[in-house]
Amino acid sequence: MDFSLLFAALLLVSFRSASAAARPHVVFILADDFGWNDVGYHGSEIRTPNLDRLSAAGVRLENYYVQPLCTPSRSQLMTGRYQIHTGMQHQIIWPCQPHCVPLDEKLLPQLMKEAGYATHMVGKWHLGMYRKDCLPTRRGFDTYFGYLLGSEDYFTHVRCSNIAARNLTRCALDLRDGEEVAAGYEGVYSTEAFGRRATGIIEKHNSDEPLFLYVALQAVHEPLQVPERYLAPYSFIEDRRRRLYAGMASAMDEAVGNITLALRRRGLWDDTVLVFSTDNGGQTLAGGSNWPLRGRKWSLWEGGVRGVGFVAGPLLKRPGTVCRELVHISDWLPTLVGLAGGNVSGTRPLDGFDVWNAISEGFASPRLELLHNIDPLYVDVAKSSLGETTGHQSGVVSGFDVSVHAAIRSSNWKLLTGYPGCDVWFPRPGHNDSAAPGSDPPKPPMLYDIEKDPEERNELSAAFPAVVEYLLGRLQTHRQSSSPIDFPDDDPRCDPGPAGAWGPWA
Ligand SMILES: *[C@@H]1O[C@H](CO)[C@@H](O)[C@H](O)[C@H]1NC(C)=O
Ligand SMILES: *[C@@H]1O[C@H](CO)[C@@H](O)[C@H](O)[C@H]1NC(C)=O
Ligand SMILES: *[C@@H]1O[C@H](CO)[C@@H](O)[C@H](O)[C@H]1NC(C)=O
Ligand SMILES: *[C@@H]1O[C@H](CO)[C@@H](O)[C@H](O)[C@H]1NC(C)=O
Repeated sequence: MDFSLLFAALLLVSFRSASAAARPHVVFILADDFGWNDVGYHGSEIRTPNLDRLSAAGVRLENYYVQPLCTPSRSQLMTGRYQIHTGMQHQIIWPCQPHCVPLDEKLLPQLMKEAGYATHMVGKWHLGMYRKDCLPTRRGFDTYFGYLLGSEDYFTHVRCSNIAARNLTRCALDLRDGEEVAAGYEGVYSTEAFGRRATGIIEKHNSDEPLFLYVALQAVHEPLQVPERYLAPYSFIEDRRRRLYAGMASAMDEAVGNITLALRRRGLWDDTVLVFSTDNGGQTLAGGSNWPLRGRKWSLWEGGVRGVGFVAGPLLKRPGTVCRELVHISDWLPTLVGLAGGNVSGTRPLDGFDVWNAISEGFASPRLELLHNIDPLYVDVAKSSLGETTGHQSGVVSGFDVSVHAAIRSSNWKLLTGYPGCDVWFPRPGHNDSAAPGSDPPKPPMLYDIEKDPEERNELSAAFPAVVEYLLGRLQTHRQSSSPIDFPDDDPRCDPGPAGAWGPWA
């Protein structure tokens, strides 16, 4: 036996397995409006056995942040960059706005594709569609099945939207397979349609090739719609909205179970990194709960931005642990491209960090600071009747205009300015205590020690003026690096007409 040959063979084997491990399959499941208190492992009355089991054998991210709204979170997931750097710091993209994620941004699926991945997307895009160049299939995904806007009907896949310039409300289909309108799904519940498409992609996948599958589920965003069979376990929930929402969450949990089962059946699971994340906090007006956190979706309180998230799969070095390191949705791009052995040098300057070692091995997170947002145009369109408090002093403190809606986190500290959005502590579902409004109109700047006080009850700005000054200085530095807000007026040419479907018009 020639030992040098044996050695070479061994080297080859270890090189091969190392290179296989260097390009794991990546499955990213994004839930919509799934709140902090809506997952079983946070003590919810909603049953999510698949999420509980997967995360228990993976790594739960308990200091994980997302943006307070759909488009913003998705834009940061896809670009690895803060909204202030893409001009998308204000709100979502509405159906008739001629706008999408700037076309000079290189997106996560493009980078995965460059790294040799097959790239597939299923579900909600919501990153702009007014021209074809904005579509998922033009931005790095080999295939796409889903809807381009938000808030459609789960069964008809129709989205109604007011077109003010035409003085009409248009209801039209919003479902596409590739770039073509997908007909024939009327009556198919979207969580099942998307779950089925995702498992179909997995079943057909050539396992020699690394897979990047992004599943952006419609669940559990309103409208509150769910097939009757998912409601059976929830007869004990009296509140109708919460009961429907719980059924929707169960269907979503089942879809996640189906996807992981398909990965196992197909023999891909051992090389898979699966990420589950919500896109923002729960919407308390539509059955969601972020208890005991303050606020909700569309606010910069913890209820809006602290997200449910975990990573699963056998490639984690410390499975079964909880990660309390600071991780943000903008971190997935460098983290996943890093796992893919790809190259992020083609992107514009990233705000995200590669947090794989923090998640997988429990190392300290490279992220020391997190800019939640700066949005000078912020208006809360769904103000709580209890916590309607826009009155706040304006004026410049330490160089930053504290009347501007903004928040920043640095280690344990969080500073908020302007009106952060609905500031109510909503009660735990099924419990009797009434919703408690925030302490008298919050007066910016507001400082909280999030590690000791995740419920944001003890405002500490008076006690720590140096921290306040430092964070205001950081906000001002970020504000100076901001791109101008791009929030164009509606274009009435968006109208798909009485028989058309929502889609590119320009
Ligand atoms: C808009 O439509 C409504 C109802 O169809 C009609 O009453 C109203 O006059 C219209 N307004 C304009 C400005 O055309
Ligand atoms: C999960 O898979 C089962 C079995 O194929 C199927 O009946 C069910 O509809 C799927 N659930 C979802 C939510 O996709
Ligand atoms: C990434 O790409 C840049 C520019 O294309 C190149 O200079 C660099 O060597 C690449 N890095 C790796 C690790 O491949
Ligand atoms: C809530 O209060 C009502 C009336 O005070 C009472 O009948 C009910 O049992 C309470 N429910 C719970 C869950 O405590």
